Amino acid sequence: MLVLGVESSCDETGVALYDSAQGLLADALYSQIAMHNEYGGVVPELASRDHIRRLLPLTRQVFEESERTLADLDGIAFTQGPGLAGALLVGAGMARALAFALNIPAVGVHHLEGHMLSPLISDTPPEFPFVALLVSGGHTQLMLVSGVGRYTLLGETMDDAAGEAFDKTAQLLGLGYPGGPALSKLAATGDATRFTLPRPMLNSGDFDFSFSGLKTAVLTLVRKEGLDHAADIAAAFQTAAVDVLVRKSLAACKKSGATRLVVAGGVGANTHLRAQLTGEGLRRGITVFYPRMEFCTDNGAMIAYAGAQRLAACLSGTPPQPDLSFAIKPRWELASLEAV
Ligand code: KG4
Ligand code: ZN
Repeated sequence: MLVLGVESSCDETGVALYDSAQGLLADALYSQIAMHNEYGGVVPELASRDHIRRLLPLTRQVFEESERTLADLDGIAFTQGPGLAGALLVGAGMARALAFALNIPAVGVHHLEGHMLSPLISDTPPEFPFVALLVSGGHTQLMLVSGVGRYTLLGETMDDAAGEAFDKTAQLLGLGYPGGPALSKLAATGDATRFTLPRPMLNSGDFDFSFSGLKTAVLTLVRKEGLDHAADIAAAFQTAAVDVLVRKSLAACKKSGATRLVVAGGVGANTHLRAQLTGEGLRRGITVFYPRMEFCTDNGAMIAYAGAQRLAACLSGTPPQPDLSFAIKPRWELASLEAV
């Protein structure tokens, strides 16, 4: 089954072709980061307009690269939410219209389900069940995953998301947007022991997180020290944030009896997080799985993959009703999804 995946929930336009027998055939991405950088964050209206400009050229590109045509498609998957309403509408409108014209099904995919299943786009995918640590710019959640659509929320952030904390801290340190990659690069040159920052909710006895206090602690430190020790502050922040993520994730594995941990979302690209999780996991008999580096941040491949799982289930059961609405869900709970 050949599925076209379309991602347009935020500041990246992603398009991909996934074949359930042959795997990922092509994947094209346009990042709007440079456009939003001068504003210090994503400008929703500019994001929507840019998705309109990029979507069709990227779609043509994946068909050319994989030497397939529209006639070969069996279904289309698009990000239905959560995300920016205008940006989501661009992808949803394009996907529904194309599916209608080709008389094939279209399926709306939950953006975080896409992230969470992205480590499965691999020759050696993890088996279910596993614990998933979802760490993106907008979400920080620990989930118990027993199958596609079988998600139990174990814990989540009470305030800022992990990626948001990286971005805000980077801003305090005078780095650009998005700050995660820049901050982690700076941290690699710093001394993580010069300053000690708090590890919020580390001993709360549950699997929830809080990152806003950590960001405030950085602000206080920057006011006191100035930016002379920016690299050391970056290293102290990264160590504290990663410490909490690692300890809570491994505790969630222990509590649920899972021996596999899957990490997904933009912060999953962080090399310090990867090194710590893999090392600590190994010591406890837990294998940690990551998406390919380029699939940590937003992309079309994860949407094509998650959509293919859902379309396969639909096609093998009752045929889906033709759905012409392109309703989007800017807010949408991952744990509310139905199993396939
Ligand atoms: O998953 P994603 O592309 O967007 C959402 O769905 O929200 O994640 C983007 C987030 C940003 O906050 C970015 O700063 C962070 O992921 N990020 C990183 C790294 N690369 C991206 N954070 C820490 N270290 C990185 N290497
Ligand atoms: Zn994302």
